[in-house]
Amino acid sequence: MFLKKEIMKNRVLAGMRPTGRLHLGNYLGAAKGMLTLQDNPEFDTTFCVVDIHATTTPYDPKTLQASARDVFIDYLSVGLDPEKSSIFIQSDLADLVTQLSFYVSSVMSVARMQHLPTFKDKKKQYPNNVNMALLNYPLLMAADILMFKASKVPVGIDQEPHLEVAREVARKMNEQFGLDFPEPTRFATVGEYVPSLLGEGKMSKTVEGSSIELSDNLDTILKKLKRSPTDSGHGDKVPTEGGVVNLLKFVELFEGEESRKHYEKLYTSSGIRYGDLKQQLAEAIFAEIKPIQEKRVELEKNPEYIDKMIELGAKKSRIIAEQTVMEVKKSMGLS
Ligand code: AMP
Ligand code: TRP
Repeated sequence: MFLKKEIMKNRVLAGMRPTGRLHLGNYLGAAKGMLTLQDNPEFDTTFCVVDIHATTTPYDPKTLQASARDVFIDYLSVGLDPEKSSIFIQSDLADLVTQLSFYVSSVMSVARMQHLPTFKDKKKQYPNNVNMALLNYPLLMAADILMFKASKVPVGIDQEPHLEVAREVARKMNEQFGLDFPEPTRFATVGEYVPSLLGEGKMSKTVEGSSIELSDNLDTILKKLKRSPTDSGHGDKVPTEGGVVNLLKFVELFEGEESRKHYEKLYTSSGIRYGDLKQQLAEAIFAEIKPIQEKRVELEKNPEYIDKMIELGAKKSRIIAEQTVMEVKKSMGLS
């Protein structure tokens, strides 16, 4: 009876690429959702560091494993808990996930994959790296999700096109091979789109000066905020785009909606003093990430514990992943 109830729980799967230490976009758009679901007893949560995905764009093989471990430690530092969730590094299950991504690629057309906005963006960003792995990226992500039969995926809004692919894959695999994959939906947070500090676009690892990292100290945060563009601080109407709106969005995310409203009122009355706003905001951001940094310092004192947790995560997640791949092989006539 107990086992049956466990199996019937809704499953959650999410991953992040080890392309650098986490920033506020990753934290608010993805990690916060992971934490909410981890602490909801209705869900069975699995999280991974997707190092195989990192090989689809230019990277350094010499440092990839260290980066994956770094993100694993970031996961634990923000509060992902190996006792509540299975947390693993994707390449530890490479045999299963690459296998499954090949199987599911048979139900998707090349044209569909080529027309994805995320593929087109990457093509523009890395014109000399338009390879098959990049085209297959969303199918590897679908395999991550389907392997755990996950129905909820806590990721930022930029991942929606990939989730659409995952749903399509699930639907087609079910129709063609009689499987029972749930169609996964995105679990959104209030920080599903964290803007860039530069006033344009989203916060991103690849855009210099756009982000605040979870490892930044108060000084660095303030310096970065000081560089973000503002205006005179006063006018008839609060701007609807650009640096000021982005700053107000950060105020809302870290100091609450009331504080945002307060600044909006100031804008149309006595005016905002951006120096004060930025100082307060920097303090609010640092107050939120300081405990994460302290936890990281503690974790780094104990590398054996990290090794053990990485091993345990791989072991735990392999059980379900193996079962799914076996089912798929059977239904596709491969065993
Ligand atoms: P990435 O670093 O692009 O691999 O993203 C890892 C996770 O963080 C994904 O779930 C993204 O959707 C999320 N994410 C990245 N940047 C942002 C952002 N600026 N706002 C919200 N979520 C983000
Ligand atoms: N594509 C995701 C990103 O860039 C990373 C990812 C890979 C992922 N596999 C996943 C996210 C499975 C959620 C679930 O952020």
